[in-house]
Amino acid sequence: MTITRPDRSGGLPDVPGGPPPTNRVQLRERTLRQDRWWVQPAVTAAVLLIFVVYATWAAFQNANYFYEPYISPLYSPCIATNCDGDTFVEFLPLPSWFSVALIILIVPGAFRLTCYYYRKAYYRAFWQSPPACDVAEPHKRYSGETRFPLILQNSHRYWFYLASIFNIVLTFDAILAFRDHEGAWGHMGLGTLVLVINAALLWAYSLSCHSCRHIVGGRLNNFSKHPLRYRFWGYVSRLNARHMQIAWVSLVWVGFTDLYVRLLASGTISDLRFF
Ligand code: FES
Repeated sequence: MTITRPDRSGGLPDVPGGPPPTNRVQLRERTLRQDRWWVQPAVTAAVLLIFVVYATWAAFQNANYFYEPYISPLYSPCIATNCDGDTFVEFLPLPSWFSVALIILIVPGAFRLTCYYYRKAYYRAFWQSPPACDVAEPHKRYSGETRFPLILQNSHRYWFYLASIFNIVLTFDAILAFRDHEGAWGHMGLGTLVLVINAALLWAYSLSCHSCRHIVGGRLNNFSKHPLRYRFWGYVSRLNARHMQIAWVSLVWVGFTDLYVRLLASGTISDLRFF
């Protein structure tokens, strides 16, 4: 290991915005960390890849996404004329071979893609930028999110608004799941529980979003004149502290919900009826 000591400037650039300093501690090693720092980015990459491959496969199936009264969250709101079931207004004319999920998934996909937490996760897992704290990244230059295409990450707040509309629809789907096959109310199966948990987790994910926290409590000079917003900001802040965990659980549950409906619709399993 070779270490060159920095000079008295502490490695700061002479001119703000000027060229990067060259007098920082120089290490030949990529990191001095002795722990298994690579485990977290490796697990992140594996889980994200599994989900993306599964969701892409499911979106192209264009079948087995509806089993009365349940609909997969990957196909909801089912807005196309070729949709199975009648859980939403079907106004978009699509040929029978075209999967409506390819349109629907744009919103939740973009919401997750631009999420502040997922950005950290996939920047580390796939771009190694950087792969972990105190581990040098392989890239020589850093442009941040100040230019195309990464500047588009700033659209996150707008995806939050759209995803909130999707949450309302998925909550409606969960309510519809309290019907039986003939449409009579007052019934509940395991699928109902799966859809209810799915909607609750998606609300938790949206309400714990950093943009939500800013919308609720940001741009205020003081909270004393806005007690209601302060109260909501407190609730959202508590959820926000768990945003990473909620992001993972809700992602996995969306995949599980689709799988459950898919297995029912294909006749592989039967729904467990509680009443
Ligand atoms: S920061 Fe993760 S959803 Fe907004």
